[in-house]
Amino acid sequence: MDAFGFTGTKVRVQGFEPCNHPNVPMLNTEYVFRRETLRDVINFVDCSFGDGLLITGPTGSGKTSLAEQVFARLHYPVQSFNCGGSTEFMDLVGQWIMVKGDTVWMDGCLTKAMREGHILILNEIDLMDPAELANMNAILEGSPLVISQLDGEIIQPHANFRVIATSNSNGSGSDGMYVGVQRLNLAFMDRFNIIKVDYSDPVIETKILEKVAPAIPKKIRENMIELANKVRKVFKGDEEANVELSVTFSTRTLIRWAIQTQRNKGARCPLSYSLDRALLNRCSEEEEREAIQTWAIGLFGGSFKPADS
Ligand SMILES: Nc1ncnc2c1ncn2[C@@H]1O[C@H](COP(=O)(O)OP(=O)(O)OP(=O)(O)O)[C@@H](O)[C@H]1O
Ligand SMILES: [Mg+2]
Repeated sequence: MDAFGFTGTKVRVQGFEPCNHPNVPMLNTEYVFRRETLRDVINFVDCSFGDGLLITGPTGSGKTSLAEQVFARLHYPVQSFNCGGSTEFMDLVGQWIMVKGDTVWMDGCLTKAMREGHILILNEIDLMDPAELANMNAILEGSPLVISQLDGEIIQPHANFRVIATSNSNGSGSDGMYVGVQRLNLAFMDRFNIIKVDYSDPVIETKILEKVAPAIPKKIRENMIELANKVRKVFKGDEEANVELSVTFSTRTLIRWAIQTQRNKGARCPLSYSLDRALLNRCSEEEEREAIQTWAIGLFGGSFKPADS
């Protein structure tokens, strides 16, 4: 487990020798693993019984990067695909394309992953039409893929083939926060192990900010994390706050704020200048912006000066 930052812990999982395979995700040395979610992904890879793994949670909480960074360290090849409202099952299987006047078949990510033993990562799976996804049901149970366009060629799943999906909802449909999210088919969902990934706790986010923005003083980094957690709490509906927020503070936004603050040292107030660009310019109401700025002043004191103050 040294590769994941947990020295001394012993867990068995299949990995590969470093091989410069083009499908192995790029290593992000700044990624900080959480013990529980790491264990879930590793257990899934090690003993998948034909199910898929669904990683669900709010935007920017580290779902896609969790999967990618595990496989980057195991040198495990991955096929990543971002689903959308118009994605069809055949987009995953493959298509005929024209090459220099000839029509040739090009495998899609699912076919490639099944043939070659890669991990298929389907991002934002809840944006895809549930009827199209139902075509995956048999494959998730370990059945072969039959490609009618190739005269019924049968692709047996390679022993290393696995399916991981990510989504903002847990399959139960949109709660209004994420546009375009579909309610997923019950039979499809029944074929998944599901793990919930919320925003990391302050201990993990402290380690992340230490890595991405070491030049920012420790106390300021801690206050940045505290502000992020305050915004998250109010976004979810904190009764004590007298404002409703349309934006939340993802780990992605927190990292962006820290990196920008470190870079924009020359600004009148780097913290406020960067917070505007990282988050506040997305607020739909002026009162949301003002509320977040007031909390920031409470945390940072005189070192936080809004641009219009
Ligand atoms: N634990 C972490 N350590 C380091 N960086 C992290 C961590 N978690 C998230 N990040 C960074 O935050 C950004 C967002 O992460 P990621 O894309 O995995 O989020 P997501 O949950 O898949 O979001 P979405 O639902 O919007 O697809 C990435 O740049 C990622 O590297
Ligand atoms: Mg993602």
